[in-house]
Amino acid sequence: MIVLGVETSCDETAVALVQEGRRILSNVVSSQAELHARYGGVVPEVASRRHLEAIIPAWDEALERAACTLGDVGAIAVTCGPGLSGALLVGLNFAKALAYSRSLPLVPVNHLEGHVYAAWLGDGPEPAFPAIALIVSGGHSDVVLMTGHGRYRRLGETADDAAGEAFDKVARVLGLGFPGGPAIDRLSAGRPAARLRLPRARLEQPYDFSFSGLKTRVQRIARGEEGNPPDKAELAAAFQESVVDSLVVTTLQAAGDHEARSIILCGGVAANTLLRASLAERSPVPVVTPAPALCTDNGAMIAACGYQRLLAGETGALSLDIDPGLRIGGDAVAF
Ligand code: KG4
Ligand code: ZN
Repeated sequence: MIVLGVETSCDETAVALVQEGRRILSNVVSSQAELHARYGGVVPEVASRRHLEAIIPAWDEALERAACTLGDVGAIAVTCGPGLSGALLVGLNFAKALAYSRSLPLVPVNHLEGHVYAAWLGDGPEPAFPAIALIVSGGHSDVVLMTGHGRYRRLGETADDAAGEAFDKVARVLGLGFPGGPAIDRLSAGRPAARLRLPRARLEQPYDFSFSGLKTRVQRIARGEEGNPPDKAELAAAFQESVVDSLVVTTLQAAGDHEARSIILCGGVAANTLLRASLAERSPVPVVTPAPALCTDNGAMIAACGYQRLLAGETGALSLDIDPGLRIGGDAVAF
């Protein structure tokens, strides 16, 4: 069974073909990062219009790279939320047209669940259940207990900024451009531990995060409001260490409390070098982390997730709508 995955929730136009939920036949990601860099962040209307231009070429390329035709595709999986409304609509309409043209099943996918299923791509060991998934992206920082395929309970979330959002905002303060995560990662790479130690926020809810206080503190230091500012790389590294430490400590706590047999580290921020290394080093259970290119938004993860949803018999009608505010676990809305 080959599933086509379509992802347009934010600023990547992505189309992929995945066999049996694991084997990537092609994974085309057309990034808009450069387009949005001049604005210092993603501009929703600009994103939707670029998706319109990029989706057909991405689809053509995905078929060509996989040496497939539409006749080889068994189902169409598409991100329906969370994300930017106008951006989601482009992908969903495209997926509907394809599904309608060949009477193929249309499978709605929750973008956050897609990030989790990136951990199933490739031929490495599959995550064992129960698993704790740390989903860290530009819009979310969720700690989720996964007890089986499609079974989630959200244990924690961010009280304010998402981890990726904090990386992007701090990078802007330090003049490092957009997106900020990779820039801070690069600038801090290979440095010894930062001499400057920034605080880690502690919250009442044991698995929740808060990053906005840290961001404000970095801003104050960078502006020289706390004395002579350290060099940019030192400040970036100290910020990264603080975020990574909070994420790792909280995830390990959740894994221990829930007797997790594995940890899934996913979402754009999971591409971070220090986060990957620290969690792997400190975790007593196996950590399954997709390759960095599969942590950031892509169509393969949507196809992988769609395959599992299809096995569970969860397909959508052609009247399917987007759900921009969709969450995962807890109060998550099912399609
Ligand atoms: O999952 P994703 O591609 O899109 C959303 O669903 O939001 O995540 C994008 C986020 C951005 O905030 C970006 O700065 C961050 O992931 N990111 C990173 C790294 N690569 C991407 N953050 C830290 N280190 C990285 N290497
Ligand atoms: Zn994402």
